Amino acid sequence: MSRYMVTSALPYANGPKHLGHLAGAYLPADIYVRYMRMRGQDILFCSGTDEHGVPITIAAEKMGISPLEVVDRFHSAISDDFKGFGISFDNFSRTTCPEHVEFAQSVFLELLEKGHIAPRDMKQLYCSDCKRYLPDRYINGTCPKCGSEDARGDQCENCGTWTEPFELIDPRCGICGATPETRDTRHWFLLLDHFQEWLEAWLEVQSGWKTNVLKYCRSWLNDGLRERAITRDLSWGVPVPLDEAKGKVLYVWFEAVLGYISSTREYFRKTGKDQEEWKKYWQDPDTKLIQFIGKDNIVFHCIIEPSLLHGLEKYILPWNVPANEYLNISGRKFSTSRGTGISMGEYLDHFDPDPMRYALAVNAPETRDSDFSWLEYQSRNNELADVLGNFINRTLRFTASKFDNMIPVADLDMTLLNKASETAKEIAALMESFKFKKAIGLAMELAREGNRYFDTAQPWKSLKADPDRCAVTVATCLNLCASLAVIFEPFIPFSAEKIRRMLGLEELKWAEAGTVLLRPGLNLNSVEILFKKLEDGFEEVFDKPEETLEVEQKELEKPQVDFDDFMKIEFKVGRILSVEDIKKAKKLYRIEVDTGDRVRTVVAGMKEHYTKEELQGRLVAVVCNLKPVKLCGVMSHGMLMASDGESGVFLLEPGADAKPGDTIR
Ligand code: MF3
Ligand code: ZN
Repeated sequence: MSRYMVTSALPYANGPKHLGHLAGAYLPADIYVRYMRMRGQDILFCSGTDEHGVPITIAAEKMGISPLEVVDRFHSAISDDFKGFGISFDNFSRTTCPEHVEFAQSVFLELLEKGHIAPRDMKQLYCSDCKRYLPDRYINGTCPKCGSEDARGDQCENCGTWTEPFELIDPRCGICGATPETRDTRHWFLLLDHFQEWLEAWLEVQSGWKTNVLKYCRSWLNDGLRERAITRDLSWGVPVPLDEAKGKVLYVWFEAVLGYISSTREYFRKTGKDQEEWKKYWQDPDTKLIQFIGKDNIVFHCIIEPSLLHGLEKYILPWNVPANEYLNISGRKFSTSRGTGISMGEYLDHFDPDPMRYALAVNAPETRDSDFSWLEYQSRNNELADVLGNFINRTLRFTASKFDNMIPVADLDMTLLNKASETAKEIAALMESFKFKKAIGLAMELAREGNRYFDTAQPWKSLKADPDRCAVTVATCLNLCASLAVIFEPFIPFSAEKIRRMLGLEELKWAEAGTVLLRPGLNLNSVEILFKKLEDGFEEVFDKPEETLEVEQKELEKPQVDFDDFMKIEFKVGRILSVEDIKKAKKLYRIEVDTGDRVRTVVAGMKEHYTKEELQGRLVAVVCNLKPVKLCGVMSHGMLMASDGESGVFLLEPGADAKPGDTIR
């Protein structure tokens, strides 16, 4: 038996995480870990939030709160979301915990002492308008490698390159857009070139790694590794533990990758176990370290982290880094800040975790980017209901109505159960090579097999004609239900538990798939519904809720605009023709306005300020050429102008003689 240490990338605590994150580094890890636990393996699964670095300070500035408030808020939001989806971490820590700060500092000092870290005097970009240094994401510019114009000073999202601020072509201050100047400063560098040869040899012998990961690393090594600054002039971060480095902090990636170890150490402290035991998981060569990440993290986990661990001399190295590609939503990148895609929390407000776990596992971006859509989600959800749900449900209902809800005493049809144990073996091989997408396909195929068996055996007919035969069918199907509970458990744990509960079974081991799990003569529990089918249009619940719209409006910064830009806005006089409530919206009305050219539907947050009667027939000022947006299920084609202040909200009113369609300037 081996020992396993499994990690998922530490998510930045700078905002809610979305379904793309879940699909990339968390769901696959959880599927793997749950499977391994069912195999009885000694396995530990640790992660936590990444709470330092520029992503956090940028969020703090945007939200007008301190970095500490940002990470407190999102650490708990993110860990709640993971719990909601059943991501079964043994520990979910945070990089601001003292344990981590201390550990990261000790690693810095140790590598400094070993000569792998050294100080260098260098130039740094400084914005004289904002009066600050501009490391990492405070710099925008053109990527020196792929030419993308959206690159930042830490990374180019387009090609994944790790950039340095001064490498960017045409650098601009990320806050004000000004062209920065350069200033002298001193920073500490990780001498990555020390590790070039060793890394090449180490990567050469990695078998079982994804080709995309290896290819990526080779291209890095071919470019040649250079020393990299691992300290920053910032106030938020782990302080560099040297007197001469006052005001400087460790570069977030340097310390974040150490967060996995800190999280493991914290686990043993919190659980009151042997305080030295974490070493078994990080220093004993019998342990296999498996790190689940998204592809944008490859360089940090396959080049930087192994270099640090190797430099420290006593640590194990990753055994595999199964990096995923990206999950897109309807052809666009998932991004909660850009309003594309759904956060984990938003999803959980409306639906159960398992159908999403299933849909994401089936569409896992394992070897190439994959596209996700609500249509796809709907069909996967309905597949769960029609195939797995249906088989379990028809078997249990039949048992309840025809066999007194008792497991019949009968021989079993071993062909079907053997099929289950075969499938379990095939799935095991796929799981162990991180091919979860194929694995879940086989699991569903077994459920289909169950339905075919039920259809062919026709127990509703044999019940009278050949009761013994009928008992065999039912007992066999019931045992297949139990096997399905085993096989589906890593993928949809909440539903698997329900199935077990209905069958009166405790936790099961992987090896029990395809065996006789149900004792004849025992009573079953009452039948529960496993999955609900989704009708067309179900995704309307995710229309932007009214509250977010308000927040977005308030957060908008107001730069100067050209006269020409101002004139692009089409303001017109309109007359309100009708006002209606919108289902589930507390603040919004659906308003039909005649703007001369046409009657347009406008969704406006006026419900708390005006009655319908007060609005009816009123002349209003309308912005006509706003991009249409769907609010609480209704498309809005414009906006009513109103003042908004402490005195209240008041609609702007054109003079009584104005006509619908008149231009407002
Ligand atoms: N916070 C990083 C991200 O979201 C991932 C860090 S993984 C780490 O991309 F372990 F290296 F910290
Ligand atoms: Zn600036």
